[in-house]
Amino acid sequence: MKIAVVGSTNIDVVSYIDKVPEGGETRAAQNFHTAHGGKGANQAVAAAKLGADVLMVTAVGDDMFGKGALENFKLNKIDTSRVNVIAGVATGEATIIVEASGQNRILLYKGANDKLTPELVLQAADDLKACNIIVLQLEIPLETVYAVIDFANANKIPVLLNPAPAVKNLSIDMACKCDFFVPNETELGILTDMPISSRDEIKIAATSLLNKGLKNIIVTMGSLGVLWLANGVEEFVPARKVQAVDSTGAGDSFIGCFVENYGKTGDVLESIKRASQYATLSVTKEGTQDSYATADEFERFYKK
Ligand code: RIB
Repeated sequence: MKIAVVGSTNIDVVSYIDKVPEGGETRAAQNFHTAHGGKGANQAVAAAKLGADVLMVTAVGDDMFGKGALENFKLNKIDTSRVNVIAGVATGEATIIVEASGQNRILLYKGANDKLTPELVLQAADDLKACNIIVLQLEIPLETVYAVIDFANANKIPVLLNPAPAVKNLSIDMACKCDFFVPNETELGILTDMPISSRDEIKIAATSLLNKGLKNIIVTMGSLGVLWLANGVEEFVPARKVQAVDSTGAGDSFIGCFVENYGKTGDVLESIKRASQYATLSVTKEGTQDSYATADEFERFYKK
């Protein structure tokens, strides 16, 4: 069982602050760190920490951050044979501000992620064909995402699309070709242009996608829980209550855990329940990949 993640790699520059500065204001942060990030990389690391065999298809720059990212993938036992190092380009960078509530804001410079063309990804076609599921997000060019969805369909490989960060012009026809579509509630609101301020509104917005032909829609709603809609299926999985410290990358940890468990068991509901708790555990700790539990740590939390 092998998972392919086709997606982004970033270096995260993170400040923890009581209150976000106004325009023209300078404020002191209470804490700061740099860390390995990028939605694709985070999802790959979460799945690998839980024991999955992961192939990472990504692009980094030929700078010190790119070297660090490669080492980090290797440390997490991820297959790096399809990590492309792009000469003369910076590795992707995310400036992240985390407020006292755990809420985060992210400013993204795509850098090398923008150079992950369909041609570059499809050089890995044979390796991708050996995978049991392909995971995509939207921090790489949209045309690459679409090419991989078509490739996955042509080769009967299940595909999961996490439409993050949300783009308004995402093709619904392409989304319909995905086996799993996993937005958070904000992304769902942007994609559907519908209100998402309550669970009922979120359900109506997700149903509008179902009516357009999307297959499995899994909406992560932070502390509200997770909603799964499919033809004839409506399941709500409440979130476990914890004290949130840092929600950065929680959605990525959900996806990493979901594909790891789904790949092993084929059980969507149980995979959602586990992924919800894995993401909950991640928000109780500072950091992104650093907050992702290993399989043993997670089993202890899940059984409690
Ligand atoms: O989802 C969190 C991630 O979004 C961060 O690691 C950052 O790199 C941005 O891509």
